[in-house]
Amino acid sequence: MNIEKIRKEFSFFKANPKTHYLDSAATALKYDKAIKVMTDYYLESGVNIHRGSYKLSYLATKAYEEARETVAKFINANSDEIVFTKGATQALNLVANSANILVGENEEVITTEQEHNSSVLPWLDKANELGFEVKYIPLNEEYRVTVQNFKKVLKDKTKVVVINHVSNVLGYINPIKEITKLAHEKGAIVILDAAQSVANVKIDVKDLNVDFLAFSGHKIFGPNGIGVLYGKKELLRKLHVYEVGGEMVAKASKDNIIYQDVPFKFEAGTPPIAEALGLAEAIRFIESLNYDEVTDHIRKLKAKAVAELSKIEGVTIYNPKSDFGVISFNIDGVHPHDVSSVFDEYNVCIRSGHHCASLLTEVLGTPGGTVRASISIYNDEADINALIEATKKAVSFFGGYLK
Ligand SMILES: Cc1ncc(COP(=O)(O)O)c(C=O)c1O
Repeated sequence: MNIEKIRKEFSFFKANPKTHYLDSAATALKYDKAIKVMTDYYLESGVNIHRGSYKLSYLATKAYEEARETVAKFINANSDEIVFTKGATQALNLVANSANILVGENEEVITTEQEHNSSVLPWLDKANELGFEVKYIPLNEEYRVTVQNFKKVLKDKTKVVVINHVSNVLGYINPIKEITKLAHEKGAIVILDAAQSVANVKIDVKDLNVDFLAFSGHKIFGPNGIGVLYGKKELLRKLHVYEVGGEMVAKASKDNIIYQDVPFKFEAGTPPIAEALGLAEAIRFIESLNYDEVTDHIRKLKAKAVAELSKIEGVTIYNPKSDFGVISFNIDGVHPHDVSSVFDEYNVCIRSGHHCASLLTEVLGTPGGTVRASISIYNDEADINALIEATKKAVSFFGGYLK
């Protein structure tokens, strides 16, 4: 993989030549061409879709629907199974908004303590109100989800399994195909949070056979403000509408509303048109890369980082065997936010804290959270060297300070 060539596709590196960006799990850098198609739309058209009867509106509508088609093909879905949302969070909330038709009193939802708050909190929020219980797949000694442990919590009364594909703190890839098969045998549905996997793992919803899947544009080199909910058509049709307003209605009178069919019944109001075009462009970029080469590149950099960090006294790594480019660690006795402030002095951007995975904090026994470095396609050895040097500086600075 030609990293130099890839870096040229991101103006970020020209604007910030000294910066080592290791925070792609929070948000990926933005692919220039994704931004360009958005700018072109705003500068050369900017008109609304689905409602104008003039040529420009027709063309904008066509481009927006083609973007939906691009997303659908990307994950091997049909385009009427793709709902544009403002992000993974909204997509996951949209499904949980119908919790009352998916799970009832004394029934169960299974999830994990690895989850991002956006997948687990919508269900915790509904549990008391609807009288169902939320159960957790016990994590193994490496904090991984295993099929064996999933079997321990799967019951006849399990109705929903909501789980991440790749953890944003641990970088583990979860055994989704096997979990889904077992869940379906019990009649439960599976909601997959694919926010951290879509950029690096080839997703085929038919092969995984999950019932719903959510991801965000900004984590796959595209714009903010757009995400995707995939759902099997018949299940999507069953869900309550999430918002009501313009465009999602087929017919309305004072005493009756008839909604549009899916996916439009979930897209009330003027949608993020430019962002849909930008997302489609980002997807074309991902499709132009080779997944095996991407994985190989990220794993090599991660292995180097883990090997070097492990040699530094005072550093604890929580996921040395992570499957992707996420490394969560701490410097003994130092708050992660303090570590990240030192890193910033050395132009190393990482994230510190809980990473919106609140339940994992207790599991890891890290009240202040962790320092998280996350590696993506545009990172290189220099970024890893900078991470190691910054860690050494932080250890020596705080070591001296703490003594
Ligand atoms: C695993 C995971 N799920 C869901 C989300 C939520 O994504 P967004 O904030 O784009 O809605 C994130 C964001 O960090 C994430 O890492």
